Amino acid sequence: MEALKGINIKVEPPGPIAKKIIEMDEKYLARSTKSLPIVAKRGYNSYIEDVDGNVFLDFTTGISTTNIGYMNKNVLDAVEEQLHQLWHFAGTDFYYEAQVNAAKALGEVTPGNFNKKVFFANSGAESNEASLKVAKNYTKKRQFIGFIGAFHGRTMGALAFTASKPVQHSMYFPEMPGVVHVPYPNPYRNPFNIDGYENPDELVNRTIDFIEKYTLETYLPADDVAAIMVEPIQGEGGYIVPPENFHRELIKLAHENNILLIMDEVQTGFGRTGYFFASEYFKVEPDIISVAKSIASGIPMGASIFNEKFDFDKEGLHSNTFGGNLLASVACTATINEIKEKKMLENSRKMGKYLNKRLNELKDKYEEIGDVRGLGLMQAIDFVNDRSRRDFNVGLRDRVIERSFKNGLLLLGAGESAIRLIPPLIITEEEIDNAMEIIDESINRELK
Ligand SMILES: Cc1ncc(COP(=O)(O)O)c(C=O)c1O
Repeated sequence: MEALKGINIKVEPPGPIAKKIIEMDEKYLARSTKSLPIVAKRGYNSYIEDVDGNVFLDFTTGISTTNIGYMNKNVLDAVEEQLHQLWHFAGTDFYYEAQVNAAKALGEVTPGNFNKKVFFANSGAESNEASLKVAKNYTKKRQFIGFIGAFHGRTMGALAFTASKPVQHSMYFPEMPGVVHVPYPNPYRNPFNIDGYENPDELVNRTIDFIEKYTLETYLPADDVAAIMVEPIQGEGGYIVPPENFHRELIKLAHENNILLIMDEVQTGFGRTGYFFASEYFKVEPDIISVAKSIASGIPMGASIFNEKFDFDKEGLHSNTFGGNLLASVACTATINEIKEKKMLENSRKMGKYLNKRLNELKDKYEEIGDVRGLGLMQAIDFVNDRSRRDFNVGLRDRVIERSFKNGLLLLGAGESAIRLIPPLIITEEEIDNAMEIIDESINRELK
């Protein structure tokens, strides 16, 4: 495999071949959520080469699906070996060792000092659907609590919890009934008008109070609430990091009311925050964890992982066809091994700190950057027109992404006006410096 070693823009992207493919995409594919006109040909570590021969540094990691970097040799070898034996066999109806190995390895790295069981799915949304069924079946309750600003996927159950953009819902009501939304403790912008960086405890207390007094004690009977579903850090909603004690207070409230806590770690999982799961940073052991994206390094896979006592008590309460597919299973086990052996969590923490420092330097330089936030290699910068108003500068954010793309850096938005910076866990200081130079130059040019 030929290495890709650095940014190399040969022709302004999208180049002529890319443009043709984009035209065909528009003709044959359903309209979805396209963000950048990058047409990929191959990848290597932190880089993507497009069809016109341009090489980009990728600070999107395929939207956090390839945390260990593109074309990891050990994952490739594991998948290749499996490919030549058998690439699919119905794992929910029959048996094979690769799926058992993946479930065991996953359970071992998942927080919680109890035995775990795994239901394998094929995506984040499907993992959340499974988590909801586990909670409903175990508790025999029907209602749920979700958070404003959340993203949990687009199938009708997961969608009922998703609350980050009206367009996600328009045309689709009614979705799964029984989900009540409450405010998320966003330290930078919240409905309580509390500065959550200055007063984190007040923000947490007000949020917990809202759930307890103004929801459970006002109109939502706790004895009919199966679970609270929450992202440890809101991803799509803007990379919102709540105060450090929030999730501990939340699980306490949940358990006092016999409510389960489902942590959606689809975006935060697999080393992204410097921990295998962000729940570890927040020091909580969720009852159920949903995971997907990077779990099999980009081979479609998701999982709902839970305390074994919540397991389905009858055959047929849940199943699927492709969950725990052989290629995905071996990729999942190899991914876990790679993260451990190559000490990627350590690098995620170390490089995360460095990235955060460099982003704060940009904030010192540009008034238009209102906030820098994140954990590990899950960082964001938020653009404002006016720091005191903390309003959304969507235009500048979009232009910075576009200009950075032309200069060989792939970036993705989050929330109204933030850019997420999610390089692979193997990123180096030098690559971060290269990315910062491009972002700096892009902001500078766009402000002129
Ligand atoms: C936190 C979270 N949950 C669920 C999902 C949905 O995952 P998928 O697109 O694989 O269904 C996403 C996707 O971005 C996510 O970020």
